[in-house]
Amino acid sequence: MSRIVHLNGDWLPEAEAKVSVFDRGFLMADGVYEVTSVLGGKLIDFEGHCRRLDRSLRELGMGNPHSDAEWLALHREIVARNGVEDGMVYLQVTRGNPGDRDFAYPPEGTPQTVVLFTQSKPGLADSPAAKTGWRVISIPDQRWARRDIKTVQLLYPSMAKMAAKAAGVDDAWFVEDGTVTEGTSNNAYIVAGGKIVTRQLGHDILHGITRAAVLRLAREAQMEVVERAFTLDEAKAADEAFITSASAFVMPVVEIDGTALGTGKPGPVAQRLREIYIEEMRKAAV
Ligand code: PDD
Repeated sequence: MSRIVHLNGDWLPEAEAKVSVFDRGFLMADGVYEVTSVLGGKLIDFEGHCRRLDRSLRELGMGNPHSDAEWLALHREIVARNGVEDGMVYLQVTRGNPGDRDFAYPPEGTPQTVVLFTQSKPGLADSPAAKTGWRVISIPDQRWARRDIKTVQLLYPSMAKMAAKAAGVDDAWFVEDGTVTEGTSNNAYIVAGGKIVTRQLGHDILHGITRAAVLRLAREAQMEVVERAFTLDEAKAADEAFITSASAFVMPVVEIDGTALGTGKPGPVAQRLREIYIEEMRKAAV
């Protein structure tokens, strides 16, 4: 079924939505994006995604083409037009089309390119993978140094995902100076000595919206959370591990570089947090 996508104010069948070859997103990866999940036709943690979008745009000296209320209306309309029950809304804003290739930013007032499309994923919250857990490999983190800005330059994460596929596993964890930064498109956690450990926020990881919600819910459930870097060796010796993202929610990790964690099955902390997260987010969905 052909989707209806949003492009610069228009609603178009996907085959008719065209962006210029001079678009800064295409030539320079000069754009930012957000992925918001949809459960039961409603948006999960929408406000958090709006806040981060605004921050990413500001960090790159780009204006925000819409108010939060306008973004919400666009998201709701695209979900309705495409009849999405469970899935994702992808949103991208680029610095637009200056009409030529130039390293310098285009003049102020050059219209930005705004794209939204949906991905339907029936049963998104009942992923069979959550019952068995992911297996991951480690890979050197060779991304740029401002991973906190959610830009569309995703080539290295794509290469890492392909390395994981080639190794017959589900994902890769990036490692820098011996410590785990994050997964290809998710934040990484271990559970050791009864504590949930995840890297502190900084320029070296994306500030996950799911991460913020999961840490809040974990603390509310009296679980102990420590925000610090952890080594790959620590991770391999951990009782359990998991990742979080808007599309995978809380996903247990059961193996790293061929080493089984704990029992080799999804751990109780990851499973509990997944339940709590999905339950709470469904309640607060807009
Ligand atoms: N990725 N770290 C990276 C590098 C990411 O790309 C993502 C999200 C996250 C988790 O952030 P959040 O909880 O806000 O989704 C962490 C999205 C899902 C994607 O690229 O599809």
